[in-house]
Order: sequence, then C-alpha cells, then structure tokens
Amino acid sequence: MSELIYLDNAATTWPKPPEVHQFMHDFYRDCGVSPGRSGFDKALEAEQLVHRCRTQLSRFFNGGDPNRLVFTYNATDALNLIIKGILTGGGHAVTTKIEHNSVLRPLWHLEHERGIKVSHISFDRKGFVHPEDIRKALRNDTKLVVINHGSNVIGTCQPVEEIGRICRERGIFFAIDASQTAGVVPIDMQAMNIDAVCFTGHKSLFGPTGIGGICAADHAVIKSTRWGGTGVKSAQKSHLEEYPYRLEAGTMNIMGIAGLLAGQEFIAAQGGPQAIWKHEMALMQRLWEGFREVAEVEMYCAEDLENHIPVLSMNVKGLEAMNTGTLLDVDYNIATRTGLQCAPQVHEQIGTDLIKGTVRFSIGPFNTVEHIDTAIRGVQEIAKMAGSWKR
Ligand SMILES: Cc1ncc(COP(=O)(O)O)c(C=O)c1O
Repeated sequence: MSELIYLDNAATTWPKPPEVHQFMHDFYRDCGVSPGRSGFDKALEAEQLVHRCRTQLSRFFNGGDPNRLVFTYNATDALNLIIKGILTGGGHAVTTKIEHNSVLRPLWHLEHERGIKVSHISFDRKGFVHPEDIRKALRNDTKLVVINHGSNVIGTCQPVEEIGRICRERGIFFAIDASQTAGVVPIDMQAMNIDAVCFTGHKSLFGPTGIGGICAADHAVIKSTRWGGTGVKSAQKSHLEEYPYRLEAGTMNIMGIAGLLAGQEFIAAQGGPQAIWKHEMALMQRLWEGFREVAEVEMYCAEDLENHIPVLSMNVKGLEAMNTGTLLDVDYNIATRTGLQCAPQVHEQIGTDLIKGTVRFSIGPFNTVEHIDTAIRGVQEIAKMAGSWKR
C-alpha cells in the first residue's frame, strides 16, 4: 500500500510534529499531576507549565493579562462559553452564513429556547462578508458579533480588522472563531479590536485533540456559565469571578496544555505562522492550478486565492462529493473530507447542499509537491472516468 496522502488538515492536522509527541509524553510521565491544587513541588511544576502556556499563547494573540487566556476542551467549548456568557440576559447577535455548527447551534438553541434574536449575514460571490453588511445589521440591543475568521469549507479569510473597528465604535462584544486560522494567520487582538479569540488546539496550533481556549481581552466581561472546583477558595459557595477560574472549572487537560506549549515552539521554529502559511499556500496554488485545467472540476469561491487559507472545496461534475472522496481514498490513498463539513449554510449559499456538499482538500505543513501532484492526477483520472460513464 502506498503512503497515505493526508489532505484533511482542516479537520485536524496530522501527523503532529514529533517534538510535540515527545514533549507531551515526557511531561505526562514526569509531571502529570493536578496543577494548581497542591503545594508540593510537582504540582507547582505542573502549574508553571500551565502558566507558561497561558503566557505564550496570550502573547501569540497579543492579548493582555495571561490569566485571561483560559483553557477549554476545544473551539466548540470556547464558542459555547462566549455565546452563552455574553447573551445570558437576552438580546441580539450578529453572525454569518459562513459559520461552523459550533457557532450556529449554540445560537439556534438560545434563539429557540431563550428568545435571543440572531441575524445571519451572507457572503459575496467570492466568499467574503462585507463589514458594511455587519454594520447595517447592528441594532440597539445587539450584544455580540461572532464571526468565522477562516472558512473550513471555502477557505476565505474574513476582514476581521474592519469588523472589529465597527464593533468597538458601537461598544459591541466581538468574538472570532479562529479554529482554522490560529497558527497560520497572524491574529493581533488589540490591533483588530477583538474581544475574544476562540481557538482549538488540534489544528494549526499542533496540540492534541481535547484542548482549546479563549483569549479574552482585559476589558471583556463574560459571565461564567460553567461552575465547579477551582482548587482555590474552596469554601466559597459561588464560582470564582477572577480569571482564569471564571471560565475554567474542573481538573485541567495538562497533557493537552503541554502539547499546545510544544506546538508553539514548533510554530516558532518554522519561522512563525506566516512561514507556515507561505509553504501551505504555495502547495494550494499548485493544486488550484492543476484543478483549473480539468474541465469537469468545479471549485467554489476560488476565482483566485487572495485572502485564503489552504482549504479548497470542489466537485467533479456528475459525481456526488462522497463518490469522488471514496475514489480518491480507495484508488489513490488520499484522505479528504466530503459532505457539508459542519457548515450547512455555506453549502446552501453556494448551492452544494442539494448535491450533498463538496470534496474539501486542506493542506498542512508536512504536505509535499508530490502529494499535490498525485491529488491532481487522481482528480484528472476520476473526471475522465466520470465523463466516460456519461457517454
Ligand atoms: C471553523 C471551525 N469552527 C469550529 C470548529 C470546531 O472545532 P472543534 O471540533 O475542535 O471544537 C471547527 C472544526 O472543524 C472549524 O473548522
């Protein structure tokens, strides 16, 4: 069997850098105790690692107080904490049609169970949301604008800086879903007027699954909606107001945090997010050029790759996405993701909901020119085969 060509990095990056595995293994073996709960040396060492990771990630997003970098299970968890923590008292939220279900579903539940109002802003033909459309949707009772930074379906990167400026002028909480961008697109919360960056650890931050977080601005007011043990002030009846405890409860995923810390070092060793983005986008450009030559291939919101991350959706005309994906898997050992990719409104807008979605290719730091050329050849041959079935 030939080597697996993994082009599903938007789901989770794979493989993880060997130094991340090693660090997590060594740390958990030598120091895998509960951090911040006790005063013995190992507990303090574990707590120091957690604090180092908070500090490092807070700097990475240009946040403020490192204690406002709180750890969650993943981006879904982070987005739930922000959406519920901002909309507790009711009100209106603005979001887009480009969102993942980790934004759409919490908002849907608040809308249907708690009477919150939600506006979903469309994107244009090229896959971009216009800041002016966000401005027009704001109301006197708008409490939250939550926007996908980089699409996990069509790969477009939204103009968060302009949207942040509009929200700051109106004093509205602005959160971004940075699941696909953290680690490949620089995020400067202060320059971009972002109140909360919600991230997941297992994509381009190169940690394991089960860890993510929120980087909350120093001035951000987020109500806690999850309560429990914090290891400090145990006699207090209510959950602690101070950060990081305010948004964290229960024993932490110390192994995940160790992985995130090692992931930060890996990113720095590559030359930072821009260097990783450059490598991945050069391969994406090659894939895009290859697909453009195949008449039967339809790509979505990809007239060009400006302001894109290395994520591309396509279909071979006449074939359902799932069938193209299966042929790529079985005949070429290429892993892609097919279907609606947990972002159904994107497909409704680009018209792929009725044909059961798209085939998504997403590139990671360990992909090579050979991987891309095999993917192009695979798609050329599948398209030829599909053409011959039609005749
Ligand atoms: C844009 C986007 N948002 C949110 C998520 C959810 O991430 P997680 O499953 O790690 O919570 C994903 C994961 O695919 C994503 O691509």
